Amino acid sequence: MTYSRITGTGRFLPEKVLTNFDLEKIVDTTDEWIRTRTGVERRHCVAEDQTTSDMCVEAAKVAMESAGVRPADIDMVIIGTTSPDLIFPNVATLVQHRLGIPACTAFSLEAACTGFIYALTTADKFIKAGESKRALVIGAECITKLVDWSDRNTCVLFGDGAGAVILEQSDEQGIIGCHLGADGQYKDLLYYPVGASKDLAKAGTDEASIMMSGKDVFKVAVSTLGNVASKALESAGVSQDELDWLIPHQANLRIIQATAKRLNLPMEKVILTVQDHGNTSAASVPMALDVGVRDGRIKRDQMILMEAFGGGFTWGSVLMRF
Ligand code: COA
Repeated sequence: MTYSRITGTGRFLPEKVLTNFDLEKIVDTTDEWIRTRTGVERRHCVAEDQTTSDMCVEAAKVAMESAGVRPADIDMVIIGTTSPDLIFPNVATLVQHRLGIPACTAFSLEAACTGFIYALTTADKFIKAGESKRALVIGAECITKLVDWSDRNTCVLFGDGAGAVILEQSDEQGIIGCHLGADGQYKDLLYYPVGASKDLAKAGTDEASIMMSGKDVFKVAVSTLGNVASKALESAGVSQDELDWLIPHQANLRIIQATAKRLNLPMEKVILTVQDHGNTSAASVPMALDVGVRDGRIKRDQMILMEAFGGGFTWGSVLMRF
């Protein structure tokens, strides 16, 4: 039986930090409002000349080092992102080349905040099908470049970063189950109104900013994530007591608390980064995984459930032994 297993993790956060107090000077908001509604205290923001591929490269170097692999050992690169450097070529090709990884399967996919879960699930399938031995899988976003910094409804929520893992073919079970979902009926609740084939001329104008119906997103996210988490455990025959860690998408502390409650999981078993990172979209889950691994909380063989929810809506989970 061929399994896939994570053998290394890494993250990169841009140097610039924007606190809630900094935001008080930009829009009509308060640290208290942001903290109590979202749990966010600060977020990292890319510099003007910094790109998604820049962050991917740095996060990947750390992940490769922790897995003890060289660029020549990698045979696939998949990046989940909604904020690539360019419309084409895809950002995974830029990262493959910059890291000196030999020519291989390299592509990005877009599933908003669920991008990393979609990317990891895809890599798992390639490995289990015998098409890849060792994949570099990344979730990365320059989401603050899409934010309208005069809109207090959205600008307080987001941050930038990249999280990377090395996923390898293994004789020991790592990834146990993956579940993906999406329903485009919710597209108007959370979207960015500019794309390559629609209203491209609006890019860079006041009309291009994240559109979000916060209360509605909140409600669907809470119910969907609760279902996704329960389904992941049920279909693997794993009980809630066997779970060592929940690594949720870090959009909002209250959404995370609701999911943990649904799983009967104390918050001590949840990796939280939302306070320091904000919502980094596709980067949030792999960065939280790396935080837990590096501070020693997450240990080899522990049972971990990762889940995410984002624009589309898209959602998904990965249950694994680390
Ligand atoms: N500072 C101060 N006040 C703000 C504010 C801010 N940054 N942003 C919004 N407000 C105001 C609103 O204008 C509104 O004022 P009004 O009543 O005078 O119109 C008031 O706060 C309450 O807004 P409301 O929408 O009821 O707040 P909320 O409790 O639902 O919290 C969110 C708003 C966005 C924090 C919350 O809905 C949320 O987290 N939703 C999910 C968002 C998300 O996770 N998106 C990404 C998914 S991947």
